Amino acid sequence: MENNFSLSETRSVSGENIIELVDVVKCFDDDTVVKKINLSIKKGEFLTILGPSGCGKTTTLRMIAGFEDATSGKILLEGIDVADKKPNERDVNTVFQSYALFPHMDVEKNVSFGLVEKKVRKSEISERVSKMLKLVMLDGMEKRMPDQMSGGQKQRVAIARALINQPKVLLLDEPLGALDLKLRKQMQIELKHLQKSLGITFVFVTHDQEEALTMSDRIVVMNDGTIEQIGTPREIYNHPKTRFVADFIGETNVFEAYLEEAGDGEIQFNMEFGHCRLPISDFNLEEAVYICVRPENLRITADETPNFRIFGLVKEHVFIGSTCKTLISLANGMEVKVTSPQTDALFPAGSTVNIYWKPENGVILHRKADRVYDIIENAVILEG
Ligand SMILES: Nc1ncnc2c1ncn2[C@@H]1O[C@H](COP(=O)(O)OP(=O)(O)OP(=O)(O)O)[C@@H](O)[C@H]1O
Ligand SMILES: [Mg+2]
Repeated sequence: MENNFSLSETRSVSGENIIELVDVVKCFDDDTVVKKINLSIKKGEFLTILGPSGCGKTTTLRMIAGFEDATSGKILLEGIDVADKKPNERDVNTVFQSYALFPHMDVEKNVSFGLVEKKVRKSEISERVSKMLKLVMLDGMEKRMPDQMSGGQKQRVAIARALINQPKVLLLDEPLGALDLKLRKQMQIELKHLQKSLGITFVFVTHDQEEALTMSDRIVVMNDGTIEQIGTPREIYNHPKTRFVADFIGETNVFEAYLEEAGDGEIQFNMEFGHCRLPISDFNLEEAVYICVRPENLRITADETPNFRIFGLVKEHVFIGSTCKTLISLANGMEVKVTSPQTDALFPAGSTVNIYWKPENGVILHRKADRVYDIIENAVILEG
């Protein structure tokens, strides 16, 4: 399905791709945890792999790093198949969530470790270590031991230790996962600046969608071993291609609807709790669709609207800083979330309201783009 996007990218092998995954599969015993994924990563980009726990993010990263072999498919680094290359023979370094610092070594020794192993000259090592510690804002902490440092500082040591080898690619597996929210936000900005100033390709793994939206040039949304969508944060947020992506990224209201001709170039979307008419073509009549509308794009009114017959009961308002979230119950029990600026007048709980949105703010997905539907389709093909 949406893998077509990445496939076509992979096939147009261009010089600017630094990493390419071609039909990569990973099985552990009978379990296929990465299911034939295709992905091209551009030189110098900040690419984030985002997905729920267990979807295969770490496994994918470990295959790129060389800690894990792909069961089938190819991994290319700068156009060269790296199947036979050990981790230390790849121009790739990894930062793990757990820092993995050497506890008995001070900051300087931790950071210089890779260069000492490579037998780099002492004077060069000290020059590079001091430059690197400045870069991650740890100058002056050369002699500190890991257990004398905060989580954020330890993570910076881990990043400096990985970057000092001047890798072409830095793989980061939930590097900020152990930090509290404030420090995490600060480190997100620092990391992004670091990546921009160094021009190194970052492949960043997280299950935090806000983190992915903030930091990335492009996001790969993974689910259950497959790639659901690849795109810029804006594309992923505004134009989700599957119901999973719509649900996983940000908050969204998903309405199930069946299509009916309404005349005048309009289509009526029938739902369990009402209907709306939208000026949309390109859909087969009687096709089942999802309409996804973000809470900030839903509007409430007490009046009748010409094209929307969706009524609900205001349940409650929840204040969240600068905005207010209103929960509305529809006739079938579905709960709809609407966010509005706190300055807007609110309908009291218990009022009946009409819900509507601007047609361009509703993302309409073919139901067959959904995973469940796909499986049914495949089953039909197999039987045929
Ligand atoms: N060495 C292994 N042996 C067997 N199964 C494994 C192994 N490593 C990972 N798995 C399984 O592969 C699947 C994907 O795991 P992976 O660690 O890649 O997920 P993840 O997306 O990184 O999740 P999380 O967000 O929790 O870190 C999981 O079901 C996991 O149990
Ligand atoms: Mg993981």
